[in-house]
Amino acid sequence: MIGTDLDKAVALLEAEKVVAIPTETVYGLAGNAFSVKAVSGIFEAKNRPNFDPLIVHVADKNSIKDVVQDIPKELDILSRHFMPGPLTLLLPKNEKISDLVTAGSPFVAIRIPKHRLAKALLQRLPFPLCAPSANPFGYISPTRAEHVEAQLGAKISYILDGGPCEVGVESTIVGVEEGKVTVFRKGGLPVEAIEALIGPVQVKTHSSSNPKAPGMLKSHYAPKKPFVIGDISNLLRENSKTISQKEKKVGILSFQQSYPNIPAEHQQILSSDGDLREAAQNLFAAMRYLDSVDVDIIIAELLPEEGLGRAINDRLKRAAV
Ligand code: TXA
Ligand code: MG
Repeated sequence: MIGTDLDKAVALLEAEKVVAIPTETVYGLAGNAFSVKAVSGIFEAKNRPNFDPLIVHVADKNSIKDVVQDIPKELDILSRHFMPGPLTLLLPKNEKISDLVTAGSPFVAIRIPKHRLAKALLQRLPFPLCAPSANPFGYISPTRAEHVEAQLGAKISYILDGGPCEVGVESTIVGVEEGKVTVFRKGGLPVEAIEALIGPVQVKTHSSSNPKAPGMLKSHYAPKKPFVIGDISNLLRENSKTISQKEKKVGILSFQQSYPNIPAEHQQILSSDGDLREAAQNLFAAMRYLDSVDVDIIIAELLPEEGLGRAINDRLKRAAV
């Protein structure tokens, strides 16, 4: 059930139930981080393998200190500038956070969401909330309450509706590896913003080179239909030349431009003005839409590899694997 009743969400979370909540990045599937029952409920509803750890959401900086041993100096600077916001920090956990939450890692991923309802909720609860993105494991993250309802509505007790997500891609995950500040997932906080503050950082976002974020699997954020990235005009030409086979019905995911010979309802433009923020906001809804209409294959192009474009391209590439 979808609604905007904060009291109801609070009551359900206090009763160790799983509730979908809005954040400014994507919707999360939330439960009491201190309750084994609630945390297990999240893994179950999401069909998530238990080797993949959960992000812990807290109301403020003091609540971070309550669940970690310390905050390394380099990461503390980032927390002061970018929290609340689309940043998740990997910090050494203390005994309050169970191994179930971190999948056995001594580090916990922590974030302070900025969304009004997420904040209000966390301020009213006496515990932090674990909340992975509210999608079945491997599928596209939800950026609207209806996206959650469509896939997980039957499995969870309540979906708190906070409108469309303002950022639209997941948080940027940052930790320290071998003494260096390291980005483990590109996300809603651009790497450039981090580097402007603390200088060059290393970026390690492939699962093979990335033991700290086991969830950053190569194939992720994937629609059910075949998803191909390239030059859209070339891909359309190749499709119309497919020998002897019937031409495939194509869905297009483009940055700015529409294509004349394809039905308008089979096209999604991320931002006709070329605005990367707007493109990020629209990305997952557009992918879901194309996955739902009558097309056989989705073809997409990469965006400029800068700012939020880097997170968008990362998601497109993982969708295409
Ligand atoms: O924006 C976001 O981060 C959203 C909203 C709801 O907060 N959450 C989100 O959660 O994207 P999820 O579970 O879909 O992605 C979290 C990623 C996973 O790849 C997971 O493996 C990684 O973070 N992660 C979580 N805890 C970790 C830990 N202790 N160490 C390393 N990686 C961790
Ligand atoms: Mg996810």
